Amino acid sequence: MERPLLRLHDEDDRRLPRIAPPCSLVIFGITGDLARKKLLPAIYDLVNRGLLNPAFALTGFARRDWDNGDFEDFVRQAIEKHARTEFNERTWRQLADGLRFVSGSFDDPEGYRRLAETVAELDRSRGTGGNHAFYLSIPPAYFPVVCERLAESGLNARQGKEWRRVIIEKPFGHDLESAQELSEVVGRVFDESDVFRIDHYLGKETVQNLFAMRFANAMFEPLWNANYVDHVQITMAEEIGIGTRAGYYDGIGAARDIIQNHLLQLLALTAMEEPVRLTQSELRAEKEKVLSAVRLPEDLSTSTARGQYAAGWQGGMEVKGFLDEDGIDEHSHTETFAAIKVFVDTRRWAGVPFYLRSGKRLGKRVTEIAIVFKKSPHTPFENSDAGEAGQNVLVVRVQPDEGMTLRFGAKVPGTQMQVRDVTMDFGYGHAFTEDSPEAYERLILDALVGSAPLFPHQREVELSWKILDPVLNYWQSASAPEQYNPGSWGPESAHEMMARDGRAWRNP
Ligand code: BG6
Repeated sequence: MERPLLRLHDEDDRRLPRIAPPCSLVIFGITGDLARKKLLPAIYDLVNRGLLNPAFALTGFARRDWDNGDFEDFVRQAIEKHARTEFNERTWRQLADGLRFVSGSFDDPEGYRRLAETVAELDRSRGTGGNHAFYLSIPPAYFPVVCERLAESGLNARQGKEWRRVIIEKPFGHDLESAQELSEVVGRVFDESDVFRIDHYLGKETVQNLFAMRFANAMFEPLWNANYVDHVQITMAEEIGIGTRAGYYDGIGAARDIIQNHLLQLLALTAMEEPVRLTQSELRAEKEKVLSAVRLPEDLSTSTARGQYAAGWQGGMEVKGFLDEDGIDEHSHTETFAAIKVFVDTRRWAGVPFYLRSGKRLGKRVTEIAIVFKKSPHTPFENSDAGEAGQNVLVVRVQPDEGMTLRFGAKVPGTQMQVRDVTMDFGYGHAFTEDSPEAYERLILDALVGSAPLFPHQREVELSWKILDPVLNYWQSASAPEQYNPGSWGPESAHEMMARDGRAWRNP
Protein backbone atom coordinates (compact mmCIF):
# COMPACT_ATOMS: atom_id res chain seq x y z
CA MET A 1 0.00 0.00 0.00
CA GLU A 2 1.49 3.36 -1.02
CA ARG A 3 1.87 5.91 1.73
CA PRO A 4 0.03 9.17 0.97
CA LEU A 5 1.89 12.44 1.36
CA LEU A 6 -0.86 14.29 3.18
CA ARG A 7 -3.96 12.92 4.78
CA LEU A 8 -5.96 16.04 5.17
CA HIS A 9 -8.77 14.50 7.18
CA ASP A 10 -6.90 11.89 9.12
CA GLU A 11 -6.82 12.86 12.78
CA ASP A 12 -4.49 10.00 13.71
CA ASP A 13 -1.93 11.13 11.19
CA ARG A 14 -1.75 14.58 12.73
CA ARG A 15 -1.34 13.30 16.25
CA LEU A 16 1.17 10.57 15.57
CA PRO A 17 4.36 11.81 13.96
CA ARG A 18 6.05 9.42 11.58
CA ILE A 19 9.27 8.12 13.08
CA ALA A 20 12.11 6.61 11.09
CA PRO A 21 12.76 2.93 11.85
CA PRO A 22 16.13 1.77 13.23
CA CYS A 23 18.69 2.50 10.51
CA SER A 24 22.15 3.66 9.53
CA LEU A 25 22.76 6.67 7.33
CA VAL A 26 26.10 6.91 5.53
CA ILE A 27 27.00 10.29 4.06
CA PHE A 28 29.57 10.53 1.26
CA GLY A 29 30.94 14.06 0.99
CA ILE A 30 30.43 14.66 4.70
CA THR A 31 33.02 17.47 4.84
CA GLY A 32 31.29 19.50 2.12
CA ASP A 33 29.24 22.66 2.56
CA LEU A 34 25.89 20.97 2.11
CA ALA A 35 26.57 18.38 4.80
CA ARG A 36 27.84 20.98 7.24
CA LYS A 37 25.17 23.61 6.70
CA LYS A 38 22.11 21.52 5.89
CA LEU A 39 22.37 17.76 6.36
CA LEU A 40 23.98 17.49 9.79
CA PRO A 41 21.81 20.26 11.31
CA ALA A 42 18.69 18.62 9.83
CA ILE A 43 19.63 15.24 11.32
CA TYR A 44 20.16 16.83 14.72
CA ASP A 45 16.82 18.64 14.48
CA LEU A 46 15.11 15.35 13.65
CA VAL A 47 16.70 13.70 16.70
CA ASN A 48 15.71 16.69 18.81
CA ARG A 49 12.11 16.40 17.62
CA GLY A 50 12.11 12.68 18.48
CA LEU A 51 11.61 11.68 14.84
CA LEU A 52 14.56 9.32 14.52
CA ASN A 53 14.59 5.99 16.29
CA PRO A 54 17.10 5.82 19.19
CA ALA A 55 18.69 3.05 17.09
CA PHE A 56 19.89 5.54 14.48
CA ALA A 57 23.53 5.77 13.45
CA LEU A 58 25.38 8.17 11.21
CA THR A 59 28.61 7.37 9.43
CA GLY A 60 30.69 9.95 7.59
CA PHE A 61 32.85 8.78 4.69
CA ALA A 62 35.58 11.10 3.39
CA ARG A 63 39.25 11.26 2.61
CA ARG A 64 40.33 13.09 5.76
CA ASP A 65 42.54 11.26 8.16
CA TRP A 66 40.09 11.55 11.07
CA ASP A 67 39.13 9.25 13.88
CA ASN A 68 35.66 9.07 15.43
CA GLY A 69 36.60 11.80 17.95
CA ASP A 70 37.61 14.28 15.22
CA PHE A 71 34.38 13.51 13.42
CA GLU A 72 32.36 14.08 16.58
CA ASP A 73 33.95 17.53 16.98
CA PHE A 74 33.18 18.37 13.35
CA VAL A 75 29.54 17.29 13.63
CA ARG A 76 29.06 19.14 16.91
CA GLN A 77 30.43 22.38 15.45
CA ALA A 78 28.18 22.12 12.39
CA ILE A 79 25.16 21.54 14.60
CA GLU A 80 25.94 24.29 17.09
CA LYS A 81 26.34 26.72 14.24
CA HIS A 82 23.51 25.76 11.92
CA ALA A 83 20.81 23.72 13.68
CA ARG A 84 17.30 25.19 13.76
CA THR A 85 16.35 23.83 17.16
CA GLU A 86 18.15 24.51 20.43
CA PHE A 87 21.31 22.58 21.24
CA ASN A 88 20.89 20.27 24.19
CA GLU A 89 23.36 17.77 25.62
CA ARG A 90 20.86 14.91 25.88
CA THR A 91 19.96 14.98 22.20
CA TRP A 92 23.58 15.44 21.30
CA ARG A 93 24.65 12.40 23.35
CA GLN A 94 21.99 10.27 21.71
CA LEU A 95 23.27 11.25 18.28
CA ALA A 96 26.98 11.26 19.18
CA ASP A 97 26.89 7.65 20.46
CA GLY A 98 25.95 6.51 16.97
CA LEU A 99 28.56 8.56 15.06
CA ARG A 100 31.34 6.80 13.14
CA PHE A 101 33.91 8.02 10.65
CA VAL A 102 35.44 5.98 7.86
CA SER A 103 38.43 7.44 6.09
CA GLY A 104 38.82 6.55 2.44
CA SER A 105 38.83 7.92 -1.07
CA PHE A 106 35.82 7.33 -3.28
CA ASP A 107 37.64 4.74 -5.40
CA ASP A 108 39.58 2.88 -2.71
CA PRO A 109 38.12 -0.64 -2.16
CA GLU A 110 39.77 -0.80 1.27
CA GLY A 111 37.69 2.18 2.44
CA TYR A 112 34.50 0.37 1.45
CA ARG A 113 35.62 -2.77 3.25
CA ARG A 114 36.05 -0.68 6.41
CA LEU A 115 32.68 0.93 5.75
CA ALA A 116 31.02 -2.49 5.46
CA GLU A 117 32.59 -3.50 8.78
CA THR A 118 31.43 -0.28 10.40
CA VAL A 119 27.78 -0.56 9.37
CA ALA A 120 27.75 -4.25 10.34
CA GLU A 121 29.19 -3.36 13.74
CA LEU A 122 26.48 -0.68 14.13
CA ASP A 123 23.81 -3.24 13.25
CA ARG A 124 25.05 -5.31 16.18
CA SER A 125 25.93 -2.65 18.76
CA ARG A 126 23.33 -0.01 17.98
CA GLY A 127 20.54 -2.21 16.62
CA THR A 128 20.28 -0.49 13.25
CA GLY A 129 18.64 -3.65 11.92
CA GLY A 130 20.46 -3.96 8.58
CA ASN A 131 18.66 -0.91 7.18
CA HIS A 132 21.21 1.29 5.42
CA ALA A 133 20.84 4.50 3.43
CA PHE A 134 23.71 5.99 1.43
CA TYR A 135 23.59 9.72 0.85
CA LEU A 136 25.69 10.85 -2.14
CA SER A 137 26.40 14.49 -1.39
CA ILE A 138 29.17 14.45 -3.98
CA PRO A 139 29.71 15.67 -7.57
CA PRO A 140 27.93 13.36 -10.02
CA ALA A 141 31.25 12.54 -11.67
CA TYR A 142 31.90 10.29 -8.64
CA PHE A 143 28.53 8.49 -8.77
CA PRO A 144 29.79 5.69 -11.04
CA VAL A 145 32.79 4.81 -8.91
CA VAL A 146 30.94 5.07 -5.60
CA CYS A 147 28.05 2.92 -6.87
CA GLU A 148 30.47 0.37 -8.29
CA ARG A 149 32.41 0.11 -5.04
CA LEU A 150 29.21 -0.13 -2.99
CA ALA A 151 28.17 -3.08 -5.13
CA GLU A 152 31.61 -4.76 -5.06
CA SER A 153 31.69 -4.62 -1.29
CA GLY A 154 28.14 -5.95 -1.05
CA LEU A 155 26.92 -2.80 0.70
CA ASN A 156 23.89 -2.61 -1.58
CA ALA A 157 22.81 -6.21 -0.89
CA ARG A 158 20.03 -6.80 1.61
CA GLN A 159 18.55 -9.79 3.32
CA GLY A 160 14.96 -10.46 4.26
CA LYS A 161 13.13 -7.34 5.32
CA GLU A 162 16.23 -5.14 5.49
CA TRP A 163 16.46 -2.21 3.14
CA ARG A 164 19.20 -0.40 1.23
CA ARG A 165 18.51 3.05 -0.21
CA VAL A 166 20.49 5.67 -2.03
CA ILE A 167 19.79 9.38 -1.71
CA ILE A 168 21.27 11.50 -4.47
CA GLU A 169 21.75 15.22 -4.76
CA LYS A 170 21.36 17.20 -7.93
CA PRO A 171 22.62 17.96 -10.52
CA PHE A 172 21.25 14.78 -12.05
CA GLY A 173 23.43 15.18 -15.14
CA HIS A 174 24.07 18.27 -17.22
CA ASP A 175 21.76 17.36 -20.11
CA LEU A 176 19.38 14.59 -21.10
CA GLU A 177 22.06 12.21 -22.26
CA SER A 178 24.24 12.48 -19.15
CA ALA A 179 21.15 12.19 -16.93
CA GLN A 180 20.29 8.91 -18.64
CA GLU A 181 23.84 7.66 -18.20
CA LEU A 182 23.81 8.55 -14.50
CA SER A 183 20.52 6.83 -14.01
CA GLU A 184 21.84 3.73 -15.70
CA VAL A 185 24.87 3.69 -13.39
CA VAL A 186 22.75 4.04 -10.25
CA GLY A 187 20.16 1.59 -11.62
CA ARG A 188 22.76 -1.17 -11.93
CA VAL A 189 23.22 -1.10 -8.16
CA PHE A 190 19.89 0.05 -6.67
CA ASP A 191 16.26 -0.61 -7.60
CA GLU A 192 14.44 2.51 -8.82
CA SER A 193 12.16 2.26 -5.77
CA ASP A 194 15.24 2.58 -3.54
CA VAL A 195 16.56 5.72 -5.27
CA PHE A 196 15.60 9.02 -3.62
CA ARG A 197 16.52 12.06 -5.74
CA ILE A 198 16.61 15.21 -3.66
CA ASP A 199 15.05 18.39 -4.97
CA HIS A 200 15.06 20.28 -1.71
CA TYR A 201 12.38 22.72 -2.91
CA LEU A 202 9.85 19.91 -2.61
CA GLY A 203 10.73 19.65 1.08
CA LYS A 204 9.75 23.27 1.72
CA GLU A 205 6.52 23.73 3.67
CA THR A 206 5.26 26.45 1.36
CA VAL A 207 5.73 24.24 -1.67
CA GLN A 208 3.71 21.48 -0.04
CA ASN A 209 1.16 24.12 0.88
CA LEU A 210 0.40 24.35 -2.83
CA PHE A 211 -1.38 21.00 -2.46
CA ALA A 212 -3.40 22.25 0.48
CA MET A 213 -4.20 25.56 -1.15
CA ARG A 214 -5.26 24.11 -4.47
CA PHE A 215 -6.97 20.92 -3.39
CA ALA A 216 -8.34 21.59 0.11
CA ASN A 217 -10.19 24.76 -0.93
CA ALA A 218 -13.05 25.33 -3.29
CA MET A 219 -12.34 28.89 -4.35
CA PHE A 220 -9.03 28.74 -6.21
CA GLU A 221 -9.41 25.79 -8.55
CA PRO A 222 -12.34 27.17 -10.62
CA LEU A 223 -10.14 30.14 -11.59
CA TRP A 224 -6.98 28.10 -12.09
CA ASN A 225 -7.01 27.91 -15.88
CA ALA A 226 -6.64 29.74 -19.17
CA ASN A 227 -10.10 31.33 -18.89
CA TYR A 228 -8.98 33.48 -15.96
CA VAL A 229 -5.21 33.36 -15.76
CA ASP A 230 -3.25 35.76 -17.95
CA HIS A 231 0.18 34.35 -17.13
CA VAL A 232 2.27 32.82 -14.36
CA GLN A 233 5.64 34.09 -13.12
CA ILE A 234 7.92 31.85 -11.10
CA THR A 235 10.91 33.62 -9.60
CA MET A 236 13.82 32.32 -7.57
CA ALA A 237 16.15 35.23 -6.82
CA GLU A 238 19.20 35.31 -4.60
CA GLU A 239 21.27 38.19 -3.28
CA ILE A 240 24.38 36.07 -2.91
CA GLY A 241 26.96 35.50 -5.61
CA ILE A 242 28.57 32.13 -6.24
CA GLY A 243 30.70 32.38 -3.10
CA THR A 244 33.20 29.53 -2.93
CA ARG A 245 31.29 27.31 -5.35
CA ALA A 246 33.17 28.21 -8.53
CA GLY A 247 34.19 24.58 -9.08
CA TYR A 248 30.57 23.48 -9.13
CA TYR A 249 29.01 26.51 -10.78
CA ASP A 250 31.24 27.31 -13.75
CA GLY A 251 29.85 25.38 -16.69
CA ILE A 252 26.58 24.72 -14.85
CA GLY A 253 24.88 28.12 -14.51
CA ALA A 254 21.47 29.29 -13.38
CA ALA A 255 19.35 27.30 -15.84
CA ARG A 256 20.88 23.93 -14.95
CA ASP A 257 21.27 24.78 -11.26
CA ILE A 258 17.76 26.09 -10.61
CA ILE A 259 15.38 26.03 -13.58
CA GLN A 260 15.93 22.39 -14.58
CA ASN A 261 14.94 21.17 -11.14
CA HIS A 262 13.46 23.62 -8.62
CA LEU A 263 11.54 25.87 -11.01
CA LEU A 264 10.23 23.17 -13.32
CA GLN A 265 9.04 21.26 -10.25
CA LEU A 266 7.25 24.39 -9.02
CA LEU A 267 5.73 24.79 -12.47
CA ALA A 268 4.59 21.15 -12.44
CA LEU A 269 2.93 21.53 -9.03
CA THR A 270 1.27 24.78 -10.08
CA ALA A 271 -0.04 23.48 -13.40
CA MET A 272 -0.90 19.85 -12.63
CA GLU A 273 -4.35 18.35 -12.36
CA GLU A 274 -5.58 17.12 -9.00
CA PRO A 275 -4.06 13.69 -8.32
CA VAL A 276 -6.54 11.01 -7.31
CA ARG A 277 -4.59 10.65 -4.07
CA LEU A 278 -1.37 12.28 -2.92
CA THR A 279 0.66 9.13 -3.29
CA GLN A 280 3.99 8.78 -5.00
CA SER A 281 2.70 7.21 -8.21
CA GLU A 282 -0.37 9.44 -8.60
CA LEU A 283 1.54 12.62 -7.87
CA ARG A 284 4.43 11.72 -10.15
CA ALA A 285 1.99 10.81 -12.92
CA GLU A 286 0.35 14.25 -12.76
CA LYS A 287 3.68 16.08 -12.70
CA GLU A 288 4.94 14.04 -15.62
CA LYS A 289 1.87 14.94 -17.66
CA VAL A 290 2.59 18.63 -17.16
CA LEU A 291 6.29 18.31 -17.92
CA SER A 292 5.59 16.39 -21.09
CA ALA A 293 3.12 19.11 -22.16
CA VAL A 294 5.63 21.94 -21.69
CA ARG A 295 6.58 23.62 -24.95
CA LEU A 296 9.19 26.27 -25.68
CA PRO A 297 8.29 28.99 -28.19
CA GLU A 298 10.02 28.56 -31.53
CA ASP A 299 12.10 31.71 -31.36
CA LEU A 300 14.46 31.26 -28.43
CA SER A 301 16.13 34.61 -29.05
CA THR A 302 12.97 36.40 -27.86
CA SER A 303 11.71 33.93 -25.29
CA THR A 304 14.84 33.37 -23.24
CA ALA A 305 17.32 35.68 -21.55
CA ARG A 306 20.54 35.20 -19.65
CA GLY A 307 23.15 37.32 -17.97
CA GLN A 308 26.17 37.47 -15.70
CA TYR A 309 26.48 39.74 -12.70
CA ALA A 310 28.97 42.54 -13.18
CA ALA A 311 31.18 44.09 -10.50
CA GLY A 312 29.53 46.86 -8.52
CA TRP A 313 27.79 47.67 -5.26
CA GLN A 314 25.16 45.70 -3.46
CA GLY A 315 23.67 46.63 -0.12
CA GLY A 316 26.51 49.10 0.54
CA MET A 317 29.18 46.49 -0.21
CA GLU A 318 31.49 46.38 -3.17
CA VAL A 319 31.15 43.02 -4.88
CA LYS A 320 33.13 41.22 -7.57
CA GLY A 321 31.73 40.52 -10.99
CA PHE A 322 31.18 36.87 -11.87
CA LEU A 323 34.14 36.82 -14.25
CA ASP A 324 36.43 38.13 -11.48
CA GLU A 325 35.34 35.52 -8.93
CA ASP A 326 38.09 33.15 -7.75
CA GLY A 327 38.15 30.00 -9.82
CA ILE A 328 36.04 31.34 -12.69
CA ASP A 329 37.48 31.36 -16.18
CA GLU A 330 37.65 35.01 -17.25
CA HIS A 331 36.05 34.08 -20.59
CA SER A 332 33.32 31.96 -19.02
CA HIS A 333 29.90 32.06 -20.70
CA THR A 334 28.19 30.50 -17.69
CA GLU A 335 25.03 32.44 -16.90
CA THR A 336 24.22 33.62 -13.36
CA PHE A 337 20.77 34.74 -14.46
CA ALA A 338 18.40 32.80 -16.68
CA ALA A 339 14.84 33.40 -17.78
CA ILE A 340 12.64 31.35 -20.07
CA LYS A 341 9.08 31.48 -21.29
CA VAL A 342 7.20 28.23 -21.81
CA PHE A 343 3.66 27.10 -22.54
CA VAL A 344 1.84 24.12 -21.11
CA ASP A 345 -0.10 22.60 -23.97
CA THR A 346 -3.11 21.26 -22.13
CA ARG A 347 -6.76 22.25 -22.22
CA ARG A 348 -6.37 23.95 -18.84
CA TRP A 349 -3.39 26.09 -19.81
CA ALA A 350 -3.63 26.59 -23.58
CA GLY A 351 -2.03 29.91 -24.51
CA VAL A 352 -1.00 30.91 -20.97
CA PRO A 353 2.70 31.76 -20.79
CA PHE A 354 4.71 30.62 -17.78
CA TYR A 355 7.73 32.84 -17.20
CA LEU A 356 10.53 31.34 -15.13
CA ARG A 357 13.57 33.26 -13.91
CA SER A 358 16.40 32.75 -11.49
CA GLY A 359 19.54 34.65 -10.74
CA LYS A 360 22.30 35.42 -8.29
CA ARG A 361 23.18 38.92 -7.05
CA LEU A 362 19.66 40.17 -7.67
CA GLY A 363 17.77 42.77 -5.64
CA LYS A 364 16.44 40.48 -2.95
CA ARG A 365 16.35 36.83 -1.84
CA VAL A 366 12.89 35.72 -2.81
CA THR A 367 11.15 32.71 -4.29
CA GLU A 368 7.55 33.11 -5.36
CA ILE A 369 4.92 31.84 -7.72
CA ALA A 370 2.67 34.63 -9.01
CA ILE A 371 -0.59 33.75 -10.72
CA VAL A 372 -1.51 36.88 -12.64
CA PHE A 373 -5.20 36.99 -13.57
CA LYS A 374 -6.77 38.62 -16.61
CA LYS A 375 -8.14 42.11 -16.24
CA SER A 376 -11.79 42.47 -15.45
CA PRO A 377 -13.50 42.46 -18.86
CA HIS A 378 -15.70 45.39 -17.94
CA THR A 379 -16.02 47.99 -15.15
CA PRO A 380 -19.41 49.63 -14.66
CA PHE A 381 -18.16 52.90 -13.22
CA GLU A 382 -18.75 56.15 -15.02
CA ASN A 383 -15.70 58.37 -14.99
CA SER A 384 -14.06 55.65 -13.02
CA ASP A 385 -10.43 55.43 -12.21
CA ALA A 386 -10.60 51.66 -12.39
CA GLY A 387 -7.93 51.78 -15.06
CA GLU A 388 -5.48 52.46 -12.28
CA ALA A 389 -6.17 49.09 -10.78
CA GLY A 390 -4.00 46.37 -12.20
CA GLN A 391 -4.60 42.70 -12.53
CA ASN A 392 -5.51 40.45 -9.63
CA VAL A 393 -2.49 38.50 -8.53
CA LEU A 394 -2.21 35.56 -6.19
CA VAL A 395 1.35 35.23 -4.95
CA VAL A 396 2.56 32.10 -3.23
CA ARG A 397 5.51 33.33 -1.20
CA VAL A 398 7.77 30.30 -1.01
CA GLN A 399 10.47 32.18 0.90
CA PRO A 400 11.32 34.23 2.88
CA ASP A 401 8.26 35.56 4.72
CA GLU A 402 6.40 32.36 3.80
CA GLY A 403 2.74 32.79 2.99
CA MET A 404 0.37 34.06 0.34
CA THR A 405 -0.72 37.46 -0.91
CA LEU A 406 -3.82 38.27 -2.90
CA ARG A 407 -3.84 41.56 -4.78
CA PHE A 408 -7.14 43.05 -5.86
CA GLY A 409 -8.76 46.44 -6.48
CA ALA A 410 -10.65 48.29 -3.72
CA LYS A 411 -12.44 51.61 -3.54
CA VAL A 412 -10.32 54.48 -2.34
CA PRO A 413 -12.21 56.25 0.50
CA GLY A 414 -13.79 59.50 -0.69
CA THR A 415 -16.54 60.82 -2.90
CA GLN A 416 -15.09 59.51 -6.15
CA MET A 417 -15.40 55.95 -7.39
CA GLN A 418 -11.73 55.39 -7.49
CA VAL A 419 -10.21 51.92 -7.41
CA ARG A 420 -6.74 51.08 -6.28
CA ASP A 421 -4.84 47.84 -5.73
CA VAL A 422 -4.68 46.55 -2.17
CA THR A 423 -3.31 43.30 -0.77
CA MET A 424 -4.57 40.65 1.61
CA ASP A 425 -1.91 38.59 3.33
CA PHE A 426 -1.57 35.20 4.91
CA GLY A 427 1.74 34.73 6.71
CA TYR A 428 2.85 31.39 8.12
CA GLY A 429 4.57 33.24 10.94
CA HIS A 430 1.29 34.88 12.05
CA ALA A 431 -1.13 32.05 11.42
CA PHE A 432 0.75 29.19 13.08
CA THR A 433 2.73 28.94 16.26
CA GLU A 434 4.93 26.08 15.04
CA ASP A 435 8.12 26.93 13.18
CA SER A 436 8.41 25.36 9.76
CA PRO A 437 10.93 22.53 9.61
CA GLU A 438 13.79 22.88 7.15
CA ALA A 439 13.32 21.18 3.80
CA TYR A 440 16.14 18.73 4.51
CA GLU A 441 14.53 17.60 7.76
CA ARG A 442 11.42 16.58 5.89
CA LEU A 443 13.28 14.92 3.02
CA ILE A 444 15.80 12.98 5.12
CA LEU A 445 12.96 11.74 7.31
CA ASP A 446 10.89 10.74 4.26
CA ALA A 447 13.82 8.86 2.73
CA LEU A 448 14.43 6.95 5.98
CA VAL A 449 10.73 6.20 6.35
CA GLY A 450 10.64 5.11 2.70
CA SER A 451 8.05 7.67 1.60
CA ALA A 452 8.79 8.84 -1.94
CA PRO A 453 6.08 11.35 -3.05
CA LEU A 454 8.39 14.32 -2.50
CA PHE A 455 11.22 12.87 -4.60
CA PRO A 456 11.18 13.36 -8.38
CA HIS A 457 11.25 10.25 -10.50
CA GLN A 458 13.93 9.77 -13.16
CA ARG A 459 11.26 10.33 -15.82
CA GLU A 460 10.62 13.84 -14.42
CA VAL A 461 14.35 14.53 -14.46
CA GLU A 462 14.56 13.46 -18.09
CA LEU A 463 11.48 15.42 -19.14
CA SER A 464 12.97 18.51 -17.52
CA TRP A 465 16.20 18.11 -19.46
CA LYS A 466 14.20 17.65 -22.65
CA ILE A 467 12.64 21.05 -22.01
CA LEU A 468 15.92 22.75 -21.22
CA ASP A 469 18.36 21.14 -23.66
CA PRO A 470 17.27 23.24 -26.69
CA VAL A 471 17.75 26.43 -24.65
CA LEU A 472 21.19 25.36 -23.49
CA ASN A 473 22.19 24.43 -27.04
CA TYR A 474 20.90 27.73 -28.34
CA TRP A 475 22.86 29.66 -25.70
CA GLN A 476 25.99 27.71 -26.49
CA SER A 477 25.93 29.00 -30.03
CA ALA A 478 24.93 32.56 -29.01
CA SER A 479 27.23 35.39 -27.96
CA ALA A 480 28.44 36.00 -24.39
CA PRO A 481 25.79 36.56 -21.71
CA GLU A 482 24.81 40.15 -21.04
CA GLN A 483 26.19 41.80 -17.89
CA TYR A 484 23.79 43.07 -15.23
CA ASN A 485 24.36 45.18 -12.17
CA PRO A 486 24.45 43.52 -8.77
CA GLY A 487 21.31 44.35 -6.82
CA SER A 488 19.28 44.79 -10.01
CA TRP A 489 16.59 42.46 -11.42
CA GLY A 490 18.75 41.00 -14.15
CA PRO A 491 19.79 41.89 -17.69
CA GLU A 492 17.89 44.20 -20.01
CA SER A 493 17.06 41.31 -22.32
CA ALA A 494 14.96 39.74 -19.54
CA HIS A 495 12.87 42.90 -19.26
CA GLU A 496 12.60 43.16 -23.04
CA MET A 497 11.41 39.58 -23.21
CA MET A 498 8.43 40.53 -21.03
CA ALA A 499 7.87 43.94 -22.61
CA ARG A 500 7.56 42.30 -26.03
CA ASP A 501 4.57 40.40 -24.62
CA GLY A 502 3.11 43.59 -23.13
CA ARG A 503 3.93 42.41 -19.61
CA ALA A 504 6.47 43.15 -16.90
CA TRP A 505 8.25 41.08 -14.28
CA ARG A 506 6.97 41.61 -10.81
CA ASN A 507 9.48 43.41 -8.67
CA PRO A 508 9.10 41.52 -5.41
C1 BG6 B 1 20.61 24.99 -4.58
C2 BG6 B 1 21.47 25.65 -5.63
O1 BG6 B 1 19.91 23.92 -5.15
O2 BG6 B 1 19.69 25.92 -4.06
C3 BG6 B 1 22.16 26.88 -5.07
O3 BG6 B 1 22.45 24.73 -6.09
C4 BG6 B 1 21.17 27.79 -4.39
O4 BG6 B 1 22.86 27.58 -6.10
C5 BG6 B 1 20.31 27.02 -3.41
O5 BG6 B 1 21.88 28.82 -3.73
C6 BG6 B 1 19.22 27.88 -2.82
O6 BG6 B 1 18.47 27.16 -1.89
P1 BG6 B 1 17.45 27.93 -0.92
O7 BG6 B 1 16.78 26.83 -0.18
O8 BG6 B 1 18.29 28.81 -0.05
O9 BG6 B 1 16.53 28.71 -1.79
